[in-house]
Amino acid sequence: MIKIAPSILSADFSNLEKEVKQLEAAGADMIHIDIMDGHFVPNITFGPGLVSAIRPHVNTAFDVHLMISQPEKYIDDFIKAGADIITIHAEATHHLNRAIWQVKDKGVKACVALNPATPINALEEVISYLDMVLLMSVNPGFGGQTFIESSLEKISRTRELMSRKGVDIDLQVDGGLNHETVPDIIKAGANVLVAGSFIFSAPDKKKAIQQLRMV
Ligand code: DX5
Ligand code: ZN
Repeated sequence: MIKIAPSILSADFSNLEKEVKQLEAAGADMIHIDIMDGHFVPNITFGPGLVSAIRPHVNTAFDVHLMISQPEKYIDDFIKAGADIITIHAEATHHLNRAIWQVKDKGVKACVALNPATPINALEEVISYLDMVLLMSVNPGFGGQTFIESSLEKISRTRELMSRKGVDIDLQVDGGLNHETVPDIIKAGANVLVAGSFIFSAPDKKKAIQQLRMV
């Protein structure tokens, strides 16, 4: 089943209540919230205060993508703010296993993200504990970048790793997704699609979401 996770990085920040309500009405499977600290990535976005401010306005699951150094310092705050899924970058912590359990012990779904240059063997020892893997298909920090083609092969190899380990979990891809790049991404084995600029630049969010789901 293909799941669509619109990223509010491309939303109108002055009107996030309206934007998240529109995404819920448009059939988003989850709302992808990009947290950036200006340290792990060269951009700054939202904190837990913003996540808790928009939480009451929709029932859609919150998929919180932490692009922050030392995520373990803030995981509890984002869970309190209403995250349903927490994604930690493997590159951002010395203690990935501990950070995963910090999430899971609170009953929240745990996901590990890899930057484009990080080899998938970073997942080998933790994949059995995860609910989802996120492969970045751009260098994180900004919306509207071009999909990195070598990500396709990485997606297939990640699916192979999952079957070798006997885990059947979600495989999410983030960065440069649109109606042209998505068909090959799905063929390669991804089933959760993050899209920011494609959905927010479309005149009709519902149609854009359906378009990605159908390709
Ligand atoms: C990039 C973020 C993405 C971003 C994707 O650092 O993690 O979620 O919003 O944006 P698009 O879909 O425009 O590439
Ligand atoms: Zn993201």
